[in-house]
Formats: sequence, C-alpha cells, structure tokens
Amino acid sequence: MRAQVVIVGAGPAGLLLGQCLLQSGIDAVILEQRPAQYVLGRVRAGVLESGVVALLERLGAADRLHAEGLVHEGFDIAFAGGRVRIDLAGLTGKTVTVYGQTEITKDLMDARAAAGGNTVYEALDVALHDFEAERPSVSCIKDGKTLTVECDFIAGCDGFHGISRASVPAGAIRNYERVYPFGWMGVLADTQPVSEELIYVSHERGFALCSQRSRTRSRYYVQCPLSEQVDEWPDERFWAELRRRLPADAASALVVGPSIEKSIAPLRSFVAEPLRFGRLFLAGDAAHIVPPTGAKGLNLAASDVHYLAEGLIAFYKNKNSVELENYSARALARVWKAERFSWWMTKLLHRFPEEGDFGRRMQLAELEYISASRAAQTALAENYVGLPY
Ligand code: FAD
Ligand code: PHB
Repeated sequence: MRAQVVIVGAGPAGLLLGQCLLQSGIDAVILEQRPAQYVLGRVRAGVLESGVVALLERLGAADRLHAEGLVHEGFDIAFAGGRVRIDLAGLTGKTVTVYGQTEITKDLMDARAAAGGNTVYEALDVALHDFEAERPSVSCIKDGKTLTVECDFIAGCDGFHGISRASVPAGAIRNYERVYPFGWMGVLADTQPVSEELIYVSHERGFALCSQRSRTRSRYYVQCPLSEQVDEWPDERFWAELRRRLPADAASALVVGPSIEKSIAPLRSFVAEPLRFGRLFLAGDAAHIVPPTGAKGLNLAASDVHYLAEGLIAFYKNKNSVELENYSARALARVWKAERFSWWMTKLLHRFPEEGDFGRRMQLAELEYISASRAAQTALAENYVGLPY
C-alpha cells in the first residue's frame, strides 16, 4: 500500500491532522492500534480554546459543537473560604467551550467516514521504518497479516505511550520531565453540574475541580495519592471527599448520582525536543504532556496539527518545505508557554505535602494577590483562553 502521509494514532491529534490533509486532497492513512469504540469511550478533555473551535469549523466538523457545546465566559477559583471569578470574556474578549473529547472524536470520525478517509483500526505491532531516509514506511499486523504502507512522511500522533517517539534513536532526542507526586481521581455522573461555570478548588485536603459535559452531565475531580486505585474509591467516598473540599454553598448544592466513568490520571509535565526526525514528525501527547490543571493537552495537540498541516500542505501544493522545516520550532514555542502555565496552575492549586506550611502560605498569598489584581487575573485569563497561533 502507498500513501503520501501515514498518521500513527486516531486520537484527537491524528483525526484532526487526517481531516486537514483530506480537505487539501493529500492522501493520508491512519493506523490505530485500538478498536474505534475504545477510542470513542476514553473520557478525557472537556475545555476547548477558541483556536480548536475555529479549526473544527474550518474542517466542517463543528455543527454539533455549536449546537451542544457550552460557551463559558469565566470560571471560579475557591480557596480558604474565599472565591475569585476569572472573567475570561471581560479580561480577554475571548471565551472557552465545554465540549467533551469523546464528542470531538465522534464528530471527526464521522467527518472522516463521510469524506472517505482510510483509518485502519486494530492495527497491531505498528513499526516505523527508514524515516531518516528518503522512502519511509510503516508496517503493522492487521487481521493476522502484515500490512506495509510506503509513504513520504510519518506523523506520530500516538500519544505519550506510543511507538513513534520510542522509535527515535536516544541520541537524537532530548526529554524534559516533571512527575507530580499525586493524581486526579475523576468521576463522570449524569447529574446537574453544581454550578454554571467551572470551579477550581485549592483546599487543605487537596485540589478539587467541578467541571461538566452538559447541563445534565457533571465531571468532578479530586487530587489523590498516586498509591491509590480506583476500586479504593467507591462513589460514596468520592462524593464525601469532594463535598469536604468545596465551598459551603457549592457543597450544599452538589447533586450526587451513580458514576458512569471513574478513573485515576497521573500528573506529568513532559516535552520532547525536537519534534522532527527526518521524515517523522511528532504531534500532540506523543511529543508533550501537561498536567490537566490548565486544560491545555488537547488544545496543544490542535495547535501542533495546525502548524504541521500548514507545513505538509505548503510542501505538496507549493513545493515549499520551509514551513515543514520550521514545524518543530513553531510548535515548541507555543508548547513551552502552555507547559509553563499548566505547571504554574498545578503548583498554585494542589497540596504538596513536602512544601509544608510555608508552601501553603505562599499559595494563599498568591491566590489573595490574584483576587485583588486585575493584572494578575488578565495574565491567568490570557493563558487559559489560549495564546494565539
Ligand atoms: P491520545 O488521545 O493519547 O491519542 C493517541 C492515539 O494513538 C490513541 O488512540 C492510541 O490508542 C493510539 N496509539 C498509541 N500507541 C499506538 C501504536 N503503537 N500504534 C497505533 N496507535 C497507537 N486537554 C485539554 O485540552 N482540555 C482539557 O480539559 C483536558 N482535560 C483532561 C483531563 C484528563 C483527566 C486527562 C487525562 C487529559 C485531559 N486533557 C485535556 C488532555 C487530552 O485528553 C490529551 O492531551 C489528548 O487526548 C491528546 O490527544 P492525542 O491525539 O495527542 O493523544
Ligand atoms: C474536564 O472537564 O475534564 C476538565 C476541565 C478543566 C480542566 C481539566 C479537565 O482543567
């Protein structure tokens, strides 16, 4: 088989890139190791910057997002009995949209099927070949048979644990990493969200977040030790812990219900440099991870795809490879700023036992400062709605 581009991974990054290339008449095949239903069922991101919304609009995949997504003009940070509202719209003129990653994935899968894009699900043992040379290829096992796709370029969109980054020789790549000593225990429930806007909570017992997927579906998280397993968190324990961390008015308004999904996500900051190795490009979580506190992971996958698609389209349409050569530097410039913001939000809002009482007082002083300073709120809001690209 032959394609101009092989995309490894059909998460948000792979599907977005696939759609950008299809729209420009570039022939790309996606190889995904999991079944489509598994990819659709992964409950992760919920908050979209306007850049992703604009990209989905250009791809003709934003109709349901506009019908069902919730536009949020601000969010609250609760701490020490106080509360500050970050007025995103007032401070930046921009908003964010609450719309689940599962829904974006479905919309992109539908758009891809309608446009006749080729996605090979359950492609096992994917292996990348000769990407440092002129004629790379990607092989996999599909239905027990070896499938080899020859191509011009490979896009590694296969997430943090994927094969693409792991295929790069150790001497050609540099990794930067911080692993945080806790995770997020997340629950999805068909109950009315506790408030119209998101509430990020900094509490002595640990961080909590009240998010949502719709007016009838809530998404909540509590900071938990990495040593704990999901089965140590029956629903009753989760709701009790969440309620203890919420401000009193929210705690009494909280409507609990049976969980429909429950998972623990570890928190990590990670960047690989560069993002190009000959004819292999990395994009999305394959290249970098942010802790979810700033809601930046999927948004960064989209900005990577924007730059990479521009590069590939310029290469095929105008025989111009300058943008492809600049891909790594352009994408990383934005990635590092989002890394900084996500790290900062994480440090500000979580309990770090090893930082002691002094560390806690520094957090509270910073939260008080943000509450009283329009300049500090503007800096936060500018990053939260997303830096331009
Ligand atoms: P992935 O979604 O990981 O997709 C990679 C795909 O590649 C997968 O389908 C995988 O099966 C496939 N794959 C892996 N290995 C191989 C292989 N060897 N061969 C073939 N295929 C392979 N981001 C936000 O922007 N906003 C938020 O509000 C937000 N909240 C989050 C909350 C939580 C709890 C978590 C965990 C994450 C959150 N994120 C958020 C981050 C966001 O979910 C990720 O950044 C996003 O999924 C990255 O997309 P991706 O396509 O790069 O990678
Ligand atoms: C979510 O709804 O899953 C979500 C929202 C905001 C975040 C992280 C996750 O910062």
